[in-house]
Amino acid sequence: MIERFRTNPSFGEIVARRFNRREVLQGLAAAAPALAIAPLRAREGVAVAPESPAFTSIRGSKDDRVILPAGYHYDVVIRWGDSLMRGVADLDPYSVVQGALLEEGAAQAQAGQFGYNCDAVNLFPVGSDGSRGLLCVNNEYTNDELLFPGRRFEDRRRPEAFRAYLLRYPQTVSYTQAAHGISVVEIQRIDGHWRALRTSALNRRVTGTSPIEIKGPARGATLMRTSYDREGVLVRGTLANCAGGRTPWGTYLSAEENIEDYFGNYAGLRARDDISPQVLEAHRRFWLWERSSFHGWEVVDSRFDVAREPTEALRFGWVVELDPYDPRRRPCKRTALGRFAHEGASPIIAADERVAVYMGDDEKFEYVYKFVTRDRYAADDPERNRDLLDHGTLYAARFDADGSGQWLPLVWSEQGPLSPATGYASQADVLIRTRAAADQLGATPMDRPEDVEPDPGTGRIYIACTKNESREPDRGAREYNGRSVEHGPNAPNPRGPNLRGHVIELIEEHGDHTGRRFRWELFLLAGNPQGGRLFTRYADALAHATRVDDAYYAGQSDAARLSGFGCPDNLGFDAAGHLWIATDGEQPDGMNNGVLACPTRGPDRGVVRRFMSAPVGAEVCGCEVTPDGATLFLSIQHPGEGGHITDLRSHWPDGGEAAPRPSVVAIRRRDGGPVGS
Ligand code: FEO
Ligand code: CA
Ligand code: CA
Ligand code: CA
Repeated sequence: MIERFRTNPSFGEIVARRFNRREVLQGLAAAAPALAIAPLRAREGVAVAPESPAFTSIRGSKDDRVILPAGYHYDVVIRWGDSLMRGVADLDPYSVVQGALLEEGAAQAQAGQFGYNCDAVNLFPVGSDGSRGLLCVNNEYTNDELLFPGRRFEDRRRPEAFRAYLLRYPQTVSYTQAAHGISVVEIQRIDGHWRALRTSALNRRVTGTSPIEIKGPARGATLMRTSYDREGVLVRGTLANCAGGRTPWGTYLSAEENIEDYFGNYAGLRARDDISPQVLEAHRRFWLWERSSFHGWEVVDSRFDVAREPTEALRFGWVVELDPYDPRRRPCKRTALGRFAHEGASPIIAADERVAVYMGDDEKFEYVYKFVTRDRYAADDPERNRDLLDHGTLYAARFDADGSGQWLPLVWSEQGPLSPATGYASQADVLIRTRAAADQLGATPMDRPEDVEPDPGTGRIYIACTKNESREPDRGAREYNGRSVEHGPNAPNPRGPNLRGHVIELIEEHGDHTGRRFRWELFLLAGNPQGGRLFTRYADALAHATRVDDAYYAGQSDAARLSGFGCPDNLGFDAAGHLWIATDGEQPDGMNNGVLACPTRGPDRGVVRRFMSAPVGAEVCGCEVTPDGATLFLSIQHPGEGGHITDLRSHWPDGGEAAPRPSVVAIRRRDGGPVGS
């Protein structure tokens, strides 16, 4: 724990207070947390600039393995299909190619096993010595062509063949519904190696069919009611769970992202003559699939056919809050945080003890958001935080060309810009149609904002804009995602097309996370300093960076010190103040995805160096560092993507002829010292 956190109650203390009560109530005495994870708090300019992370950077690779700098090792902590519950068998990855997942009982088993395509990773402490914790992990989607014999990725472009396959094998839908959602698994460190406690009573699966409460302003709204939930208060399942976050009060936030991929037959909905304009308007900005959806669930499950269940899709695209310490408590969809393709949700406590949650909407030309709670965080009375996220103000970001910016409040009123006169009947209406409301206010269309992460040392906010191949080099308007949008470069998104992405630094005015004004600048323009032009002046980068590998690394000029990268996705900070960047997408020279790290302050600000290379086809997610700095948890998502079950590109992590398995890894220094320091 570094000095500047010592005056705050530790996260461990806060959860322990809560847990002492609950131990008595529930007999869960094993789970008394004590790892000191301090909640993030507002601070500006107080942190000492960290030195560059002390590892020897690695080169990019195309190998089907995890590659780390000398002196580091990793353990595979939990893999897709590993049992999390007593009485549930482990998946045999060698049997997948024989069709094991089509057999009776596979879906039931999957509901008790670690889910597919792990994404967000957050650690919640258990016990008193820092050696145990609960990992909350999102399971975002499935690569069905790697799961089921006969299922081909290309069939999604052949609707009749796709439909025939699903009708013949409806069990593939129940299997994949069980593979989605959230996995909670208790882990323990023994002799420097983390392992999963597979029969812990705190292990848990939340799937695509688990009951989840709808909370906040949209609870009970007309647009949230369906044929099976006429009150609009309870939804089956959470889907497309991408990145996430950890609240100061010890709960997990899981962000529902690409939910439109699950809902088909939008053409059928529009052909009905009894659908209200409000329902159609609510779908306008979410790009539903005209007939077959990407996953095709609507073929065998009418809940996902929007012509038959017109409002079900409106109950997805929210932030879900889950209490990892209480497996019996239902998760909640917190509608006050808006409905869009939520990438993640990163909370920080403001100076006045209210809580700000920073979020990206990961779609081309969509927006950056923050939510500020109405009420103050209560460190001494955790139950008062239980529904803190149900009341507050959601803002969308406007980035101005002079480096200033404004947070635009998405607040309904009788007379304001979001009112009956502009088509909004209530705050629930504004939240269900968050994107349209942000259009109305003039938010700035971005290049797919993914993770939005506060630096715990300075309170500055870092925004990963992963890429946007549809950003054009010249100004003009186009129809995109249900509205006309300016598609040329703008100040915070200067490159068209943007194939490598960038990272923006946002500084709240007066360090106030509840405020309405900020400053911003481009921190990193991703590229290849050895292969493209390396701009050292910010103005030059804004004006002239046009080629795919052109780069700007906060003004750094020595290309030999810098690693090329593309498509920043998840961000994280370690205790020393280094920014960790996980990538998802095309890398310079066609290398595999990986993880890089750099300081955000001091003379080495922007010296980005490659730390890790991932297996073939995988993206990397997570960047969760333990409070002692000694372990970095990462999700290896979709290894082998781009292959097929009978033509596998990856066999990671099991090797041989095994199907590839999305897995969480724990990376440590061989001498036990802080990762990256
Ligand atoms: Fe699921 Fe935006 O990555
Ligand atoms: Ca992501
Ligand atoms: Ca993050
Ligand atoms: Ca991504």
